[in-house]
Amino acid sequence: MDENIMHDIDNKMEYEEKLRPSFIKEYIGQDEVKDNLSVFIKAAKIRDESLDHTLLYGPPGLGKTTLAFIIANELGVNIKTASGPAIEKSGDLAAILSSLEPGDVLFIDEIHRIPRFIEEILYSAMEDFTLDIIIGSDGSSRSIKIDLPPFTLVGATTRVGDLSSPLRDRFGIISHLDYYSISDLTKIVKRTAKVFGVEIEEEAAIELAKRSRGTPRIANRLLKRVRDFAIVNNKDIIDLNETKDSLNRLKVDNDGLDETDHKLLKSIIYKFNGGPVGIDALASSIGEEKGSIEDVYEPYLLQNGYLKRTNRGRVVTEKAYNHLGISHQETLF
Ligand SMILES: Nc1ncnc2c1ncn2[C@@H]1O[C@H](COP(=O)(O)OP(=O)(O)OP(=O)(O)O)[C@@H](O)[C@H]1O
Ligand SMILES: [Mg+2]
Repeated sequence: MDENIMHDIDNKMEYEEKLRPSFIKEYIGQDEVKDNLSVFIKAAKIRDESLDHTLLYGPPGLGKTTLAFIIANELGVNIKTASGPAIEKSGDLAAILSSLEPGDVLFIDEIHRIPRFIEEILYSAMEDFTLDIIIGSDGSSRSIKIDLPPFTLVGATTRVGDLSSPLRDRFGIISHLDYYSISDLTKIVKRTAKVFGVEIEEEAAIELAKRSRGTPRIANRLLKRVRDFAIVNNKDIIDLNETKDSLNRLKVDNDGLDETDHKLLKSIIYKFNGGPVGIDALASSIGEEKGSIEDVYEPYLLQNGYLKRTNRGRVVTEKAYNHLGISHQETLF
């Protein structure tokens, strides 16, 4: 393959943004969420009002940020973005809010990580479109009210349970994104391949979809790596064999479990006799952060029946033993 083509492909790798669909029509899967949002967006436009505040929640990489941008596009308004952990002072949030134009979307990612005392500013902003702020220092401080234009807050979170109830209650629309089906992920893989300008066989796309933990971000990442193997092996089309070989080399198994999933399950089996084990002990035994186990690894393992949560901790299931080819006997010592 000549250098120009390699260069071209390198450039395309910077186009992560290009992978994001811009309108609901191009957003694959999550049909119920899409259908409902379409209705609410249409109604808001007919009434010429701002869309109700919308909360999107679900595991990482399922398309929350993508959907927030789509909402703004469909409404035909601007989007301003902020991230929960980056809002450190009430002034930060006040500044963002007072910069909004009528109808704008304010997208706050990781909204569960806004400090509580700052979060309170959102209550009146969301409810009455007013900004209540205190100015001046102790002796001469006074509170002032500033009118805000109507706007739509779109919040995204991987942890809806960590949201305070006053905040959660102020969202008129609450949408849950769930893991994608293999057929939807196959469509996403094919769409991404098209954006990359690479050809992929149907069976190869299905294989990638099966091994992507129900997650578009993982599907896109794996496709990039498989494409790398295909380029180096001088293949014009990504086929099933190439895909299987590449994924095996990346240590992604037939069900899409990766090295960390294996480490986690085996640790419970070998070090904790199959469980139950508490999250802290588990985290330190595999050297992963508690948060990433809870947000990234566990939800998929739980949903797919490799792991069970009991009130005494996590327990590995029969399915996990079978999948890993480990017999109960082996672990009794
Ligand atoms: N429904 C979809 N159709 C096509 N591509 C999608 C879809 N959902 C997500 N993607 C792709 O997956 C990638 C990850 O999506 P996104 O960044 O929106 O996820 P997220 O839910 O915001 O993740 P996080 O919780 O980590 O912020 C995007 O680059 C996008 O291209
Ligand atoms: Mg995001």
